[in-house]
Amino acid sequence: MKKPGIGLIGCGTWGSVHARTYAASPFVRLIAISDQDADRAAAAARNYGAEKHSADWRDLLADAEIDAVAIATPDFAHGEIVQAAIDAGKDILVEKPLATTIEECERILDTRRAKGVKLMVDFHNRWNLPFVNIRRMLQSGEMGDLLAINIRLNDTFFVPTKMLGWASCSSPAHFLGSHVVDIIRWLSGAEVTRVYSVSRSLVLKNAGIDTPDFFQSILELSSGATAVVENCWVVNESSPSVFDFQCEFIGSAASAYVNASHHAMLKTYTTGGVAYPDVACAADLHGKPVGFGVAAIEHFIDCLASGREPMVTGEDGLAAARVVAAMVKSAETGQPVELRQ
Ligand SMILES: NC(=O)c1ccc[n+]([C@@H]2O[C@H](COP(=O)([O-])OP(=O)(O)OC[C@H]3O[C@@H](n4cnc5c(N)ncnc54)[C@H](O)[C@@H]3O)[C@@H](O)[C@H]2O)c1
Repeated sequence: MKKPGIGLIGCGTWGSVHARTYAASPFVRLIAISDQDADRAAAAARNYGAEKHSADWRDLLADAEIDAVAIATPDFAHGEIVQAAIDAGKDILVEKPLATTIEECERILDTRRAKGVKLMVDFHNRWNLPFVNIRRMLQSGEMGDLLAINIRLNDTFFVPTKMLGWASCSSPAHFLGSHVVDIIRWLSGAEVTRVYSVSRSLVLKNAGIDTPDFFQSILELSSGATAVVENCWVVNESSPSVFDFQCEFIGSAASAYVNASHHAMLKTYTTGGVAYPDVACAADLHGKPVGFGVAAIEHFIDCLASGREPMVTGEDGLAAARVVAAMVKSAETGQPVELRQ
């Protein structure tokens, strides 16, 4: 059987993880890489063995050799490309969030249904082992009823100011909160019904980046559980890990605690200070990409090869986008936002 042909759109920090994963997979062919930075697209095509490259993603959608596209452009540039890829009949793996407006997400889902293409949103924490274990404890009944959740997923100031050139077009709620909402929905099996958030703008605004420093939110779930969520972009850069990811899950029969910032598996002291290098998300094992971030991409590859539907759907992307939009609205209005189910 012919291996599915892949086109990658956007080859920055995370797009490079996609490129490595497709290049290493025996089940797909990486046909082309597009990036609006033409030199970056050409260099990535060379590095990862793609035959073609382009500065215009439309070239990939017009390419009959490409069966599926992976989209790893900035958050605000997902919606238009996903929509066009559906219209072109390509299967799609899009980085989170699905899109930055609810209207875009709804249009995407309407047309996807009509076209019948696969659409996966890359909420890769569903492959992150501590969360997988907690889901198993919840499903077996070992934890009893999930009552209360506390999740802090924060980034250092480095991320919005040095890593992402487009932070002012996103926010800690979109970039980080969307991950947290998906974890909460996936583990609880419940939907968010009410959101109350506050945000503040000071540090990033003073640095010329027009987006809030943080959101602190209370979410109420259809199951009766509640969640307290913090997403912040201004943690001091001296932090030994670029993100701080701590979680508590309180059940009626047991509770579980996750420090997903670094799992403390490797600690280094160098001239740059103390660090916990990534050995869990997108690491290198004798030249092969491994980790839960890679496993999520490999799941999409499995779905292409087997015809199965992805574990994370466009509907999950829309549900997360609705909660993130509610966080932003609640913070702007000072009022809780009800979400209809
Ligand atoms: N950085 C991470 O750790 C990480 C992890 C998981 C998911 N993500 C998600 O992946 C996506 C990309 O993030 P990133 O950190 O790699 O950003 P990045 O800025 O490093 O890379 C984005 C790339 O997209 C290119 N690009 C921008 N607009 C384009 C367009 N219209 N057509 C083609 N290329 C375009 C840019 O030139 C750049 O190379 C985001 O949605 C982000 O939320 C990032």
